[in-house]
Amino acid sequence: MKKVLDKNFWFKYKEVKTERFEIFSIFLVFSLLLTLTAIPYDVLFVFKGLRVGEKIGKNITAQRDYYAIDMEAFEKRKARVLRGAPLVIDLDSESLNKELEKLSEGFEKLRKWSQSFDYTRFAVNPEKSAEGYEIFSKLLDIKGNVFDAFLTFWAAGFSPSVKSEIEEMVISVLEKGYIGTGVERDRKIVKRTIPEYTEIYTDETAFINGKDELKIFVSALVDKKGSDFLKKNTKSIVNFIANFVEPNCKVNVAETDKRQHEILSRIAPNYIVIKKGEIVARKGEILQQTVADKLRIIKEEELKKISPLRLVTLFIVFVSLSWIFYMVASASVKKFANDKKSITLIVMTILFSLIFVRLFMLTGTYISFDYNFYPLIMVFFFPYALSGMILRLFFNTETAIISVFFMTILMGINFPEHYYLLIFVFSSAFLGLHFISYLYTRGDLIKSGGKTGLANAVIMLIILALVTDKETISMSDRIFLVTGVFFSGFLSSVLLIVLTPFIEYVFKYTTNITLFELSNLDNPLLKELLLKAPGTYNHSILIGTLAEAAARAIKVNPLLARVSAYYHDIGKIKKPEFFIENQMEGYNKHEELTPYMSVLVVLSHVKDGIELAKQHKLGQPIIDAIAQHHGTRLVTYFYAKALKLDPSAKEENFRYLGPKPKTREVALIMMADAVEAACRVLDDPSPSRIKNLVKKIIQDIFLDGQLDECELTLKDLNLVVESFTRTLLGIYHHRVDYPEIKSGKENVNNKKPL
Ligand SMILES: [Fe+2]
Ligand SMILES: [Fe+2]
Repeated sequence: MKKVLDKNFWFKYKEVKTERFEIFSIFLVFSLLLTLTAIPYDVLFVFKGLRVGEKIGKNITAQRDYYAIDMEAFEKRKARVLRGAPLVIDLDSESLNKELEKLSEGFEKLRKWSQSFDYTRFAVNPEKSAEGYEIFSKLLDIKGNVFDAFLTFWAAGFSPSVKSEIEEMVISVLEKGYIGTGVERDRKIVKRTIPEYTEIYTDETAFINGKDELKIFVSALVDKKGSDFLKKNTKSIVNFIANFVEPNCKVNVAETDKRQHEILSRIAPNYIVIKKGEIVARKGEILQQTVADKLRIIKEEELKKISPLRLVTLFIVFVSLSWIFYMVASASVKKFANDKKSITLIVMTILFSLIFVRLFMLTGTYISFDYNFYPLIMVFFFPYALSGMILRLFFNTETAIISVFFMTILMGINFPEHYYLLIFVFSSAFLGLHFISYLYTRGDLIKSGGKTGLANAVIMLIILALVTDKETISMSDRIFLVTGVFFSGFLSSVLLIVLTPFIEYVFKYTTNITLFELSNLDNPLLKELLLKAPGTYNHSILIGTLAEAAARAIKVNPLLARVSAYYHDIGKIKKPEFFIENQMEGYNKHEELTPYMSVLVVLSHVKDGIELAKQHKLGQPIIDAIAQHHGTRLVTYFYAKALKLDPSAKEENFRYLGPKPKTREVALIMMADAVEAACRVLDDPSPSRIKNLVKKIIQDIFLDGQLDECELTLKDLNLVVESFTRTLLGIYHHRVDYPEIKSGKENVNNKKPL
């Protein structure tokens, strides 16, 4: 026993797991398609081929606000500011003294050397010349070839007067500042004297900029101030200074960078502000740079939306959200339609709504290309109430509310720029599903469309009052919007009528709209029943009245109860004369048959009924009602007859094959059927006698276990007793005036719920 239980448990667990996996797969596909609707398709091709100076081919309207940093303009400005930022050049004020010391020391020593080796005698001696030049280069730290200068100074005997003239030149050079490698022209410069750190703002003319400039500078000095001796030897003197003086200035890269950053940090970025609804580019105008910048910003911002990372993130968000909604709703909302088929219809309804919003958006953009039209208006014209209505019609209020809520959240993710749209979608779909809950006739369906239209118009007026920027939406656009949403609300109910048969066919559902069609007594099958089995026809109409009223009392679908009742005995068309309600007085066909044969004929009306229902495509709920309306009840009349003939007759041969009623509507038909048959033979239908009879019959059905598989509570059963009694009393009271119920026409004229 335990093993069997375990096996069953495992099987069930696996079944649940498989269904969950399948639902998850549905969510994966759903989320993938949702992600595709998040792509702003219009932007991908609107901006193609627009160049500055060209004629603009279409109006381009901003569909949301853009506050973007114009990076391109910002970079250009930064470069411009950087060019203006000063170069920091450090001047080493201590190097002058070192150079002068070196010079004095060198001249001192060489003067002594030249006293021993006189120029006039030794200049021709290559050995001595080389020895002197070596000392000279070493002492004065000369890098290049200054042999000419050596000879010149030697000739002058390294005299103090020559030395002081050279000194003056070195002072002039180093005080001005000498940079080894040249700096850029036209740059602003900060000249810092190190180690004092005094600084002045200047330009490149304040320095001797490279060796060439040094030579020019020195030769000018010689020209201006030099003695005759120096002037005669300008070339070698200039060459000497150029090779002797070390640059005392250099660009301080770190300090320059630091100051540049300080300046950059003070520059505010370039913002481009584009208002929602602003016509950024107008058809026929020439594209200016400023407009081109705005278009570039819009394109850049929109393209960010289709970065692979964002799309993958969106996909994950959609899958997670779907799963969360599904799990929470299944766990905590009892009536939530959480089977695979229902989930498919729910996600398809939501998906189509989102696809259409994107399509409407695209259409709006396209219209605005050529006309003075506010493209965002277009998205409001989609009949959003339709989704709420479909979900309510095919499922129930709970499922519809949860799904509409979910849909609104998804719209918020996919169309974040249209926050007013969210208010509209939610209110419209919510009210749509509400209005459709109170359908009583076909006319009511149209009325609910009208109500939705009116509700849409009111919501739109509220939204328009909320829109602060009065300039964006013109008065004519406002009127267009309000009338447009009125008609889209109306269109919701029209589309519902058009789409329902299609959805019913694909998903094999039976909605109230179809039930309403079936409730029409002009239906050929019911007409045939009236013709061939008038007794059964009247019986069925009566059951319909009983079941409908009781359904209302226990808050289940009254229309389903009534229509199921109309067709529950449809199988009796095949052999009407075998059923008591169709028999003329005094003649009973069963008298010719054995109880076993009789019961077979009686039982066959269920099977025949199912066949007929399938043939006439009455839908699963009606087929179920026919199959279950007798449950596994005993045909007592023939069983008793059989017992008389053979006391060992088996009860199970006289029972219907079932199954027992699975829904409360079918249970009502079973009870009404039994009650009606019993009341038919009641001689004196006083209120108390009727009530007692009803009570007893329902009790029998309950004790027979026929109600075990449906969700009727004892409280429901009490309400059913009350309701049946009330209806039957009404009927018997009326029978005084109308001895026969001829047809159910009055049922249609008396407002009966759909
Ligand atoms: Fe029946
Ligand atoms: Fe019946």
